[in-house]
Amino acid sequence: MTWLVILLLCLGRTRAQFPGISNQSESKLEEVLLKLLLSLQEDDYFDTLLIYGRDCIFHSVTKYLEVSTVLVSNGSTIYDWDFGSLTMILSCDPEADQEYTPRTLMKLQRNRRLIYITKDNQPKSVCSSYFQREQYNIALVREDFQNSQVIYACRFFQDPNFARINSSKSHPIYIEIFQNMNKRPIKTMADLLAPRSMLYVDKNTGESKLMGYVANLISNFAQRLNATLQLEVLKNETNFHRILEKVLSDQLDLGITMHTSLHKTPLDTASYPFMVTTYCLMLQIPAKLPFNEVYEMIVDPLVLTIILLLFCILSVLLIYGRNRSWQDLSLANVLLNDVSLRGLLGQSFPFPLNSNRHLKLVFIILCFASVLMTTMYDAYLQSFFTNPPSGPHVHTYKDLGRFNQKLAITAIEVQILKNLNNSHFNEVKQDDLAVFDDWQEFIRLRNNFNLNYSFIVTGDRWTSYAEQQKIFKKPLFYLSNDLCFTRMLFLSIPVRRYLPYRHLFEDHILRQNEFGLVRYWRAHSFFDMVRLGITPLEDLSHPKPSEKSIIMEDVSRILLFYLAGMVMSIFCFLLELAVAKWSREKGM
Ligand SMILES: *[C@@H]1O[C@H](CO)[C@@H](O)[C@H](O)[C@H]1NC(C)=O
Ligand SMILES: *[C@@H]1O[C@H](CO)[C@@H](O)[C@H](O)[C@H]1NC(C)=O
Ligand SMILES: *[C@@H]1O[C@H](CO)[C@@H](O)[C@H](O)[C@H]1NC(C)=O
Ligand SMILES: *[C@@H]1O[C@H](CO)[C@@H](O)[C@H](O)[C@H]1NC(C)=O
Ligand SMILES: *[C@@H]1O[C@H](CO)[C@@H](O)[C@H](O)[C@H]1NC(C)=O
Ligand SMILES: *[C@@H]1O[C@H](CO)[C@@H](O)[C@H](O)[C@H]1NC(C)=O
Ligand SMILES: *[C@@H]1O[C@H](CO)[C@@H](O)[C@H](O)[C@H]1NC(C)=O
Repeated sequence: MTWLVILLLCLGRTRAQFPGISNQSESKLEEVLLKLLLSLQEDDYFDTLLIYGRDCIFHSVTKYLEVSTVLVSNGSTIYDWDFGSLTMILSCDPEADQEYTPRTLMKLQRNRRLIYITKDNQPKSVCSSYFQREQYNIALVREDFQNSQVIYACRFFQDPNFARINSSKSHPIYIEIFQNMNKRPIKTMADLLAPRSMLYVDKNTGESKLMGYVANLISNFAQRLNATLQLEVLKNETNFHRILEKVLSDQLDLGITMHTSLHKTPLDTASYPFMVTTYCLMLQIPAKLPFNEVYEMIVDPLVLTIILLLFCILSVLLIYGRNRSWQDLSLANVLLNDVSLRGLLGQSFPFPLNSNRHLKLVFIILCFASVLMTTMYDAYLQSFFTNPPSGPHVHTYKDLGRFNQKLAITAIEVQILKNLNNSHFNEVKQDDLAVFDDWQEFIRLRNNFNLNYSFIVTGDRWTSYAEQQKIFKKPLFYLSNDLCFTRMLFLSIPVRRYLPYRHLFEDHILRQNEFGLVRYWRAHSFFDMVRLGITPLEDLSHPKPSEKSIIMEDVSRILLFYLAGMVMSIFCFLLELAVAKWSREKGM
């Protein structure tokens, strides 16, 4: 099929006189049509005219309009033409357009259209034939228009299905008919994935209703359009992709579920993004160190070296300061200087009576260092005893294996991430994955905060987990900042491809977000889950009753060090005795 597009940029004056028109009645018709088009342009601006059909009255009328004109004489454009929204469509007869490509058909639903019909065409049947194609923004002019001044505007929800509008009165011709759907149904299906959609029975009316931030969006939309929600619920054993399939095959208008930007399905069946979120790992908070390891924790090798160095310097200064000479300087005197040792440990030590100024100065430094050191270690020890520090955190995908944390994931998500060739997902070793074929089992484990696994979670779901963990004695999981498969996950609502009120729905999404309702619903989702009995209001962290006081076990390490020190000093003492005895025997 070839098609003919002629772009005419007519720069003639709009209200120019019609030159050289022989037939009086035809020129009268042109004049009233021109007037009609000008008033339509005034109502709602258009900058392009699209004319379907071969030679007809519209071709001559548009010469006097200052807009670009595209002629589609053959009835169809062979490529999927996504023309602008500021386009007005004119058809020479009801059968003039033979479009079949999806994007063009979607545009034909939205844009205003004026159709020229003969006396033989009945407005009623013409309108209903367009309604069957789900094109509702239609107005008709008959060939006797210049006498009757009547425009037939198709109205889907009325009987008869069109309205006669007198063109000399200022009644609107094109109206948003879906603003009031007169209780017509919107076919939907919910996946009942809390907290996005949750089913409950209204106690007052006995009706089944939906709650949750996706369900609320859609039920408010139905209310706004004066439509009813024809609700199906996903059977628990089926995959939630069933909803997407049904939307793709035009069996549903809207899906009460989320279409993520990870899906490779065409965007024609997805709405404008409803929210942007992250897709990250939910990792276990590492266990606290046992109390008996706290002593080792607070001794940092670097700090210990500095203290030893300080000890030696102070010893040397003390030895020199006593007599202002290096006479007593020896390794034993420096390393086993009891004044310096006792001073640094905060113990009392003998203060020479006739000390000189130098020595006094060294003593002041010693006292100051001792106060600093003892208070520092005291503070460390006491705060770590009340709240011991945590063990190491997972920072890379390799750590998952090292810390023996299996990542739970559903088979569906594995499939999607593999199809996308997600680079982060490729870093996770196969051995570290626990793949669940049953997605509900996965959800159940995650909802129960099962500590045998780490999980994968979207940012919006995490908000309610975070809320839930606030009632725990200690939180069990945290949302990883380093390990995210994507930080820009667009969530949209599945929408039937030729949904005629798609623009109203997208407008609704934006308004609900703008008003802050979506954020409010999300913030409240955990409490809604509790109210509907989906989540128990209890501490799933199973806290152990805390010990009242320090037990022997907690100080075992330090006692071991003490024992080792005692054994060593006894050994040294015995060695000294033996050496003394040996040298005496030798001397005799
Ligand atoms: C003028 O046009 C009308 C309708 O198109 C037609 O019936 C009539 O015969 C035409 N008159 C002349 C003089 O061509
Ligand atoms: C478009 O034009 C071609 C020939 O140019 C013709 O074969 C075809 O049937 C036309 N299509 C329509 C829809 O009129
Ligand atoms: C349209 O309105 C004009 C002026 O208000 C009136 O003269 C004419 O009869 C009306 N036409 C019809 C079909 O109602
Ligand atoms: C909603 O539709 C019903 C049924 O057609 C109608 O009676 C009612 O007036 C409509 N409500 C509004 C607010 O238009
Ligand atoms: C589906 O749910 C019902 C009740 O909620 C339960 O009895 C049934 O075992 C579930 N089926 C599967 C396959 O999980
Ligand atoms: C997946 O991505 C990697 C690099 O990130 C590339 O080397 C590889 O060829 C890709 N595989 C496919 C099937 O696209
Ligand atoms: C974790 O796994 C072990 C063995 O695989 C099992 O005995 C234990 O009950 C599991 N823990 C939880 C909380 O499910």
